[in-house]
Formats: sequence, structure tokens, C-alpha cells
Amino acid sequence: LQFRVSTNPKARSSFTLTPQRMRMIVEAFKDTLELGLAKPDQVVLCHVSLRPCRFITNAVPMIPTFVFGFPTGQEQGDYLAVDLGGTNLRVCLVYVQGEGKFEITQTKYRLTEEQKQDDGQKLFDFCAECLKTFIDNNLEADHRLNPGETLPLGFTFSYPCFQTKIDHGELIRWTKGFGVTNTEGRDVAEMFRKSLAKYELPVTLTALINDTTGTLIASHYVNPKTKIACIFGTGCNAAYMEHVVDIPKIKNLGIDDTADMAINCEWGAFDSFDHEHLPRTKYDTIVDETSNKPGEQAFEKLISGRYLGEILRLVICELIDEGVLFLGQNTYKLENPYVFDTAFLSLMESDPTDELLMIIGIFSHFFAVETTLAERQFFRALAKLIGRRAARLSACGIAAIVSKMGYLEEGCAVGADGSLYNKYPGFADRIHEGLVDIFGEKGRNIVTYHAEDGSGVGSAIIAAMTKARRNAGLY
Ligand code: GLC
Repeated sequence: LQFRVSTNPKARSSFTLTPQRMRMIVEAFKDTLELGLAKPDQVVLCHVSLRPCRFITNAVPMIPTFVFGFPTGQEQGDYLAVDLGGTNLRVCLVYVQGEGKFEITQTKYRLTEEQKQDDGQKLFDFCAECLKTFIDNNLEADHRLNPGETLPLGFTFSYPCFQTKIDHGELIRWTKGFGVTNTEGRDVAEMFRKSLAKYELPVTLTALINDTTGTLIASHYVNPKTKIACIFGTGCNAAYMEHVVDIPKIKNLGIDDTADMAINCEWGAFDSFDHEHLPRTKYDTIVDETSNKPGEQAFEKLISGRYLGEILRLVICELIDEGVLFLGQNTYKLENPYVFDTAFLSLMESDPTDELLMIIGIFSHFFAVETTLAERQFFRALAKLIGRRAARLSACGIAAIVSKMGYLEEGCAVGADGSLYNKYPGFADRIHEGLVDIFGEKGRNIVTYHAEDGSGVGSAIIAAMTKARRNAGLY
């Protein structure tokens, strides 16, 4: 086993990325970002699925968010936020206090696998129901509203939506394994409004935002050096602030050319369908082909928490079939797709014991198999290869934005959030190493840090910014 991963150059190289390869990926990534900004939005048939789609398939969507510029830091007020991410539904009440300060009260609700595949309007009804419970339990007496009065609500909906204004968004496609019906191609803000009305909630949906956009704004609110925000969680994506003049596809909207607007890159879609640029192993191909969206989100499938455990599980299953692992044991528990959580990779990499006792625990407790020390060392080495590759590819995405925007010389801070970034040991260090491999010593000018809560605080600040723009009679 050691031979297979640690010393066999061929086995190792399928999961490793040389600095030269990374630089090639960065160049291709940069071109794709430009292409996404340049292409006029039009409904075309996707050349693979033949479904109508708004974006050419070999570009990343680069979605204009209608969030204009960074916050001043003086925004204030009380806002509600609903955050529909990949795993949980979260409801928050945010007190934005100005001078980079805020307070937050929140409740999380778990989404079931059934809800992720059920009907769209039912999902939004569930969101409204949770919001109702939250309002009933949390709104203090000083928040009691007069008849007809409403609280502004920011809706963080972390899937690609085509927007023409801040409080609308047409779902381009589900990602992260969601397959909810009757939603793709429809305005999700409108659908949610319908559910809010059904439960007679005293709220006004003022902004529909992506988690990356929220993270960009919330992080900049407390650290004005922030120019890019990334999420490394169930999904993987980034946002940054672009000059309106450099977004050719919105030229005809008559927006002030001197303004800036946040772009939700949806970079998880990089290299989808054609698979020209990213090194994929046979396990990655299986993950892709057995997913509910084959061909799509090619970059995300190599990086995000939804997929890393599955990649490792597929390697294990192959070795079980070859008669190399767990000889004479019943391994049926390992045979179900997605049973191997990415959190196990984190645990395996952080096991401090010589005997790798945590790894013994994972395999015996969750999969009812006994492991030898050699097997455990192998699993740990494999987790390291998969986790390191994810971080180095993430560095390529960050480098593409840095290089496109010319941030390298002056440097910039990158606000990052998500379970992988926050919990996977060494993930941030590996991104930083990757940036040095790409840019040399100057790569040290780009520093990622744990971001502020974008989906809650970010959405509240964006709601405040939107209110201020409306009061000033702006778009
Ligand atoms: C997926 C979604 C994207 C989101 C990311 C992180 O890539 O498509 O909108 O930002 O996951 O949650």
C-alpha cells in the first residue's frame, strides 16, 4: 500500500499538481473569467444537455450581482436574513451597528435529503415556516411591528442565479447535489415571496444574494483590505468587486460607468463539459458521471466538501475489488455512495497518535471493518493527496482573480469561509503554499483569512446598502 501512494510516482502524480501545471491552469482560468464577463447573456442550448441555458458552457457565469461597491462601514439597522446553503437552512436577526460592528441571533434547521429533491415551492414554504418560528421566538418586544410595517429580509440563496436587479434572480441550475423540481429557470425570489405571503410574515424581501457576495461585503465591512471572498464548503465559489466599465455584458443597462459591482464568479463551473484544463483521475470521472449533473461544476467536484470523501471512498472500493484491502471482511457499509464524509478526511489528517487510533475508530465504528497500521497510513496519505490537491486548485482560482485584477503587487486579503476552510487541517496553509508556487515570493502578498459570516451579516449589510441606494433614488 505504501508503494501505491507514497513511493509510486505514477500513483502520486495523478493527484499532485506541479507549479508549472498550476500556472497553466491559472492562465486558462483567467481567460474563462474574461469570457464570462464579455459574453452577452443570451439563451442558448447547452451543447451537452441540450437544455436551454443562459451561459455558454465553456465559461464561468460571472454573475453581476447588483451590489454596488463596498460598504462604508457606517451602515446601521436591524435586518432578518434567511440562508439556504448546501446543508442547512439558517435564519438570523442581525443588528448592524456601524463602525464595523454587529450582533447576531440565529437558529439553524437541518435540510433532509428528501427536501433537496422535492418540489421547489414546498422548499420555499419550509423556509417561510422556519422564518415564522424564528420570528415568533426571537423578535423582542422592541421589534414588535405596527400594523402594515415590515422588517427588511436578505435572502442568501447559494446557487447560481441570473439577476437583473438585486431583489430578483432566476435559478440557472441547481448545484451541490440539489435536484429540487420546478425551480430551474424560475425567479426564486418571487417563489419565496409567495411562501412569505402564505404565512403572512411581516417582512419585505429586499435582496437576493449569493453566499460569496455576502462574504465579500461582510469581510470588507470589518477588514477593508478584503478584495476577494471565497467559500470552501459543500460547494466552492468566489466573488470580487469589478469595475462596471469592465463588464461588457451589462453595457446596455445604462449603469454609471464609474461604479463598481460585485461579481459572483460561480467558478465551480470552470472547465465543465470539455474538461480541457483540470487534471482529473478516473475517480473524479466516476464522481462526475454518477452525479445528478454529469459534466457540470467540474472545478467544484475536485475541491468541495461534498465530493472529497466520495473520491477517497472510490479509491478504497477499487482496492477492495482488487483484493488489496480488508481481506476476508464484510465491506458492504463502504459500498454506498457518499457514506464517507469529508469530515473523516479532516480527522484522518489530524490524528496525532502513532497507531492512528482515530482512523481505527472511523473504520470500526462507521463501517464495521478492522484496519492494519499499513492500511491506516495509506488512508492518511491518500487523504493528504486529495486535501492538498483541493487546496492547490483553490489557489489557482484565487490567483486567476488576483492576476486579472492586478492585485499582486499591492497585495490583498481574501475572506474565506466554509467547513473545508475552517475545519480541514492545513487547508489555508496549503492555499498559501500554492500561491507561492504560482507567483513566487510575491504570492505571500495574498493572504486568506477566516471571513465574517457572509450569509447572515453580509446579507444584512447588503439590505442596508440597498435601502440607502433606494432612498437616494438609485437603481
Ligand atoms: C456552489 C453554488 C454557489 C455557491 C457555492 C458555495 O458552487 O453554485 O452559488 O456560492 O456552492 O456555497
